[in-house]
Amino acid sequence: MSQSNTDGYTSTAKWLHWGMALVWICSWGLGILATHWRDELNPHHELTFLHKALASTLLFVLVVRVAWRLMNRPPALPESMSPLMKRGAMIGHILLYAVALIALPLSGWYWSSIADKPILVLGLFLLPPLVAPDPDLYDLAKYIHTWTAWCCGVLVGGHLLVALKHHFLDKDGILDGMLPNTKN
Ligand code: HEM
Ligand code: HEM
Repeated sequence: MSQSNTDGYTSTAKWLHWGMALVWICSWGLGILATHWRDELNPHHELTFLHKALASTLLFVLVVRVAWRLMNRPPALPESMSPLMKRGAMIGHILLYAVALIALPLSGWYWSSIADKPILVLGLFLLPPLVAPDPDLYDLAKYIHTWTAWCCGVLVGGHLLVALKHHFLDKDGILDGMLPNTKN
C-alpha cells in the first residue's frame, strides 16, 4: 500500500539514499584512481578489485530501494517551484536511477564479462558473467563504461549543486527532507 509522506523522506529512504550515495562516490573515486594512477596506486589491480567489489553491491541494494520507493511516496515538491522546475527535478531523479544506479554498474559488469574478469561482490561471492567473453568487443565495452562513468560524474555533480542551491539560495526545505532528524 502507498504511504503518503508530507514532511520528508522516510528514514528508510534516507538510509538507502545516503548509503548508496556514499558507496557511489567512493566507487567513482576508486575507478578514477585505479585507472589514472595505475602505476603509482594500482600496480597489482588492488584498487580495481575494490572498485568492482564495492560498486557491484549497488545492483543489489537498488532492488530494495526501488521496491521501497514504489511503496512510499516521496514528499511533495514546494509550491514555490514552477511546473517546469518540478518536471526537471523528476527527470533528474529518473536519470539518476536509470543511468547512475542501473546503466553504469551494468556497463561495468558487461565490460568485465567481455574481458573474462571476475567480479567478487564485497569480496564474498562471484557475479555470473552477463555475456560470453569476446576480445573483439573489449574496446567498445571499455568505452561505454568509461563514458557513462564520466557523464554520471557530471549528473551527480549537478544533483549536488542543485541540492545546495535549494538549501542556501531558495531555502525551500528540500534538502532538509533528505537529512536526518526530520519528524518521520
Ligand atoms: C558491477 C559494477 C562495476 C564493475 C564491474 C566495474 C568495472 C570497472 C573496471 C574493470 C574499470 C577499469 C579499472 C582499471 O582499469 O583498473 C572501471 C573503471 C571505472 N569505473 Fe567502474 N565498474 C562498476 C561500476 C561502477 C560504478 C557504479 C561507478 C560509479 C560510481 C564506476 C565508475 C568508474 C570510473 C569513474 C572508472 C574510471 C574511468 C576512466 O577510465 O576514466 N564503475 N570500472
Ligand atoms: C553528493 C551529495 C548528495 C546530496 C546533497 C543529495 C541530495 C538529495 C536530495 C536533497 C534529494 C531529495 C530531492 C527532492 O526531494 O526532490 C535527493 C534525491 C535523490 N538522490 Fe541525492 N544527493 C546526493 C548524492 C546522490 C548520489 C551520489 C546519488 C546516486 C548516484 C543520488 C541519487 C538520488 C536519487 C535517485 C534521488 C531521488 C529520490 C527519490 O525521490 O526516489 N544522490 N538527493
